[in-house]
Amino acid sequence: MALKRKREKSPPGGLRRGKGNLRIGLVGVGRFGRLHLAVLRQVAGCEVAAVADIDGELARRVGKAFGVERAYEDACSMIADGELDAVDIVSDEATHGPLAIEALRRGLHVFVEKPLATSLAEALKVRDTAAESGRVVMVGNISRFAQPYIALKRAASDGRLGPLAMIHASRHFSRRWFEHFGKRVHPVYESGVHDIDLILWFAAARCASVYAVEKNVSGYAYPDAFAATLTFEDGSIATLSSAWMVPDRAPENLVETLELGGTIDASIELIGEKGMAKFRLADSGPAVWTDRGVQHPELSLWPTGHDRIGGAIAAELEHFVDRARTGKESPVAPLADSVEALRIAEAVVESAKKGTAIRLR
Ligand SMILES: NC(=O)c1ccc[n+]([C@@H]2O[C@H](COP(=O)([O-])OP(=O)(O)OC[C@H]3O[C@@H](n4cnc5c(N)ncnc54)[C@H](O)[C@@H]3O)[C@@H](O)[C@H]2O)c1
Repeated sequence: MALKRKREKSPPGGLRRGKGNLRIGLVGVGRFGRLHLAVLRQVAGCEVAAVADIDGELARRVGKAFGVERAYEDACSMIADGELDAVDIVSDEATHGPLAIEALRRGLHVFVEKPLATSLAEALKVRDTAAESGRVVMVGNISRFAQPYIALKRAASDGRLGPLAMIHASRHFSRRWFEHFGKRVHPVYESGVHDIDLILWFAAARCASVYAVEKNVSGYAYPDAFAATLTFEDGSIATLSSAWMVPDRAPENLVETLELGGTIDASIELIGEKGMAKFRLADSGPAVWTDRGVQHPELSLWPTGHDRIGGAIAAELEHFVDRARTGKESPVAPLADSVEALRIAEAVVESAKKGTAIRLR
């Protein structure tokens, strides 16, 4: 445990000391936390000053490997220490809301991986605490920083597609990952929330109702697959589905960077009165054929270049550091959209449980 130092009073927005690097404490040094650490050491204007993980030994080992000053077992002690300007929360989903609230109460800016929380009530509490604290909260809605989705967003916004009548989104993940997540969180909060966020980004109206069904194949606490239909106040509709059932021998697109091989098969299709736009993540880009199978390395999310990790993860963390340093909310990924995504996610779970549509407004 590091020495406690006196906490300084925070100026409104921006940095605790008003100048220098944004000092970040990172919570959760698992696979994605380690990727954040690798990216953050490339980002100008910030430094990771501390890491925390309930696995204290892992926190110390990873902290040392990334040259981080201090390692904690307890994230709240790290947050309370008074030496940080911001936290980056990359721990298990159920910890996101409570840790974001704790950090905001201590005057820190917050980057929190998706999902913002695992209940609407918690998401609303994060929103209210952020408003009281005047601090920036940005949720890791990585697709908003990925070039293929940015191209779709432009087509939807500049009138080329006309008014959207329908959006279809699906996101299927490798079956072998489900062993880790099937006991931990409903897939709508892990995979589905990416597409709910994209749908909200592209749609021109508010979601009015949600109907969902689900299927439990593996027998874990949460279902392997779900499908949902969303209807919007302007009469447009969206469908959303996710199955963690991609077989091991499917073409792999996660082949480097993340310490996790496998497949994200994500598709989205926007159908407008004047045009359509679509993108499929699974087989974009190059192909590598070997005796062990086929790989399509994914190049938009976190590609490893000659000397840095690029793509959406770098763009979103650079964006967060810039917003936290200036104390201004992100116009790309506003907190209100992530709260709305949680409203829909919770309705998906409730609808599947009750077998009826859930009216949101
Ligand atoms: N945006 C994306 O595309 C994307 C991709 C992968 C993961 N993620 C998100 O990143 C988060 C982490 O995922 P992961 O795959 O790295 O999981 P992981 O299980 O590999 O790592 C989670 C880490 O958090 C630690 N942890 C759990 N509770 C904690 C607590 N209270 N305090 C401190 N540490 C705690 C665990 O010990 C573990 O080391 C998840 O929310 C996931 O949804 C996002």
